[in-house]
Amino acid sequence: MQKPYVIDEMISAKSIAARLEELCREIHDEFQGTDKLVVVGLLRGSFVFIADLVRELDLPIEVDFLEASSYGDGMESSREVRILKDLRGAIEGRDVLVVEDIVDTGHTLHHVTGLLKSREPARLKTIALLDKPSRREVDMKADWTGFEIPDEFVVGYGIDFAQRNRNLPYIGKVRFT
Ligand code: IMP
Repeated sequence: MQKPYVIDEMISAKSIAARLEELCREIHDEFQGTDKLVVVGLLRGSFVFIADLVRELDLPIEVDFLEASSYGDGMESSREVRILKDLRGAIEGRDVLVVEDIVDTGHTLHHVTGLLKSREPARLKTIALLDKPSRREVDMKADWTGFEIPDEFVVGYGIDFAQRNRNLPYIGKVRFT
């Protein structure tokens, strides 16, 4: 049975929206003139972030999704990354932006970018809403990061704890009571 917990707000919905605007200006500068950017969301945690991100981007885009194995129902990374659902489209010669919710140990983004690079995109960039640098186990940093956070387990804005709390409009940290 799940231990009882409360959620303390850490990053407000307003702060997320303001940071997203800044990030999208930089992404726009990077990709302006692109034929059609492929925005790849890593399921499931990035689904809210990618929805807000693409609506803020004034660029021709396609959206695709990839699902990698993650924490399951626990709080610990499995480290061994498996692809559960691959992209629908080919990315060879295309400009690609990979959208991740959190870079934690770094294994997921490291594995996914390695896989996608082997498909020879013209350009491959990465964005993560959150980064927990103190937890890193492999050398990995997204090209753009929304917020660096301490080693706390967080939920909301698409991110879950055992499949719960994805629908919170803000990022909160889990505190067991
Ligand atoms: P990594 O492979 O250790 O970098 O983990 C990346 C994935 O772990 C993220 O995409 C999340 O799905 C999950 N994750 C990492 N930290 C948290 C957290 O604080 N809350 C919920 N999921 C997390």
